[in-house]
Amino acid sequence: MKKGLFITFEGGEGCGKSTQVRLFKEYVSSLANKDDFVFIREPGGTGLGEKIRQLLLGDQQDPPVPMAELLLFCASRAQIVEEVIRPALNEGKIVVADRFIDSTIAYQSCARGILSPENVKKLHEMFMPSLKPDITFYLRITPAEAFARKKDDVFDRMELEGLSFHEKVLAGYDSIASTEPERIKVIDATKSIEEIHKSIIGIFENKVNQIEITNNESRF
Ligand code: TYD
Repeated sequence: MKKGLFITFEGGEGCGKSTQVRLFKEYVSSLANKDDFVFIREPGGTGLGEKIRQLLLGDQQDPPVPMAELLLFCASRAQIVEEVIRPALNEGKIVVADRFIDSTIAYQSCARGILSPENVKKLHEMFMPSLKPDITFYLRITPAEAFARKKDDVFDRMELEGLSFHEKVLAGYDSIASTEPERIKVIDATKSIEEIHKSIIGIFENKVNQIEITNNESRF
């Protein structure tokens, strides 16, 4: 069976992730094998997932209790794993996800304290056994710096949490990054958009070259 490549983008609020995913998409559109890439976002990315996204982020009237929040993020993920991610990886495609399991560990486990990181990982092992990103770009910025540069004053339910919540999200990501330095590439998100984009492309191309050397075949 062919094995694809699974790339995720992670980071706290206002880290510039959406801009970097958009620039990465533009870079991909110039590649000969652009049709091998599949872009997704979480929560959402499937019909059911987008409805769950609405329940999680849109509705301030009936907010989920903490455990329901965690399980709804996981429900959206279970759906996209089976509907999109696994089939694409099995076809040898490159899946690029805007957020994945590390968001649940940083936000629901480390910041909200709903389950331990180990239990969040065990839960995922039940519905997505041995599925893990190959590379994760973690755009790192402190919440104080991120909120200071926010241009609008529109906030979703997670963004409305206080500064101390977002400090815990940052600490959560830092701790995941320190335990998995091979997978998680820490990117200084205070740098310029162009510099960040260049380092992401550099890391991506290195990874692809490594795979080509290992497989002794060119995918590009
Ligand atoms: P989104 O509008 O996609 O913005 P961004 O990713 O650019 O921050 O918001 C997704 C929100 O959901 C974000 O606040 C992080 C949160 N989230 C979790 O708390 N847990 C999760 O598992 C995921 C995937 C997201």
